[in-house]
Amino acid sequence: MTDVSERSGVLRRIFASESAAAPGDSHEQVVLCHDRDSGLKAVIAIHSTALGPALGGTRFHPYASEEDAVQDALNLARGMSYKNALAGLDLGGGKAVIIGDPTTVKTEALLRAYGRFVQSLGGRYVTACDVGTYVADMDVIARECDYVTGRSPENGGAGDSSVLTAFGVFQGMLASAQHQWGAPSLAGRRVGVAGIGKVGHYLVDHLVEEGARVVVTDVREEAVDRVRAAHHGVEIEVVADADALIRADLDVYAPCALGGALNELTVPALTATVVCGAANNQLAHLGVEKDLADRGILYAPDYVVNAGGVIQVADEIDGFVFERAKAKAAKIFDTTLEIFARAQADGVPPAVAADRLAERRMADVGRLRSILLPGGRRP
Ligand SMILES: NC(=O)c1ccc[n+]([C@@H]2O[C@H](COP(=O)([O-])OP(=O)(O)OC[C@H]3O[C@@H](n4cnc5c(N)ncnc54)[C@H](O)[C@@H]3O)[C@@H](O)[C@H]2O)c1
Repeated sequence: MTDVSERSGVLRRIFASESAAAPGDSHEQVVLCHDRDSGLKAVIAIHSTALGPALGGTRFHPYASEEDAVQDALNLARGMSYKNALAGLDLGGGKAVIIGDPTTVKTEALLRAYGRFVQSLGGRYVTACDVGTYVADMDVIARECDYVTGRSPENGGAGDSSVLTAFGVFQGMLASAQHQWGAPSLAGRRVGVAGIGKVGHYLVDHLVEEGARVVVTDVREEAVDRVRAAHHGVEIEVVADADALIRADLDVYAPCALGGALNELTVPALTATVVCGAANNQLAHLGVEKDLADRGILYAPDYVVNAGGVIQVADEIDGFVFERAKAKAAKIFDTTLEIFARAQADGVPPAVAADRLAERRMADVGRLRSILLPGGRRP
């Protein structure tokens, strides 16, 4: 057999247990899907089914190379295992990517071909929306497949997941206030929201209701106009860009746009002592979590506080009930507090404490499947 060191980067990652990999680095299954006539080229990556079927969205993106697409699917699938574990879901982690520009190549036939490949996995992978895919696309995929969430309410779905994502981020922010300032309140605190799109604008609603002083920025003028119109009579300060926001006099910084917001340039410039936002992959690279901790900045791990969306779509699996999903998303408050406490006790940054807690749940609860139940319940 080929030595692991001779394999390409992708294969080395998939079979990572053979190398000196960190816990959680290897993947259970990676499926390459090809339908020449519709032009479908997709990668479905299942990182772990220790806690249940792997749930994660489908990203539709014009990757520079097929290798890049596989790498992205692997990263995203791993992230979903950790997110779903700490969201308290009985679901593992997976993610899919479709290669291509969704604005030009997305067709009914392509989406339905993709649906048939997801169906062929028999429920080991359950899909949802991600960048480049929308509720309407999930409805199309669901015509070929039983394992689709994020569908429209008319089709039994939960609809827009940003509602509970924002609610969950707000819970994480209240927990951060509790840990940092001794009370779960943001009243009078100055909170900067970078990106007031689907999630960010709902987050502003919560903050205004809480009595926080809100500062926002967005590259789209219409996003700013929408927030101003929604809060007529309330002072919402607007700054030119994310750089200006980071340097503004803030108590809390909430990255709600793209990933990589926290890096060697932004962390030293931050005035806020709490970072808590919706964006995925906020830490630009390994080590940034330590830079934040060294500056006394409390970082609420992104995948912990932005889990409201996956909690919302996961609820569809049992028939969507908004209040039940909201009650689960409210638990993000307790989980965030627990992570801060463990981080303090173990002398590690919260991002490390979160990873450890997720890995422990995957191991401890996943192991229970070795106890055989009669009747095939939760095999
Ligand atoms: N929607 C969800 O349910 C959900 C769930 C989990 C995580 N997230 C993450 O939260 C983030 C926001 O998601 P969304 O659904 O609100 O996306 P969105 O596209 O609706 O909103 C992003 C906003 O950020 C703005 N923006 C982009 N670049 C910017 C920049 N450089 N400076 C300032 N603003 C900028 C955009 O104009 C847009 O208004 C993403 O990172 C997403 O992956 C979203």
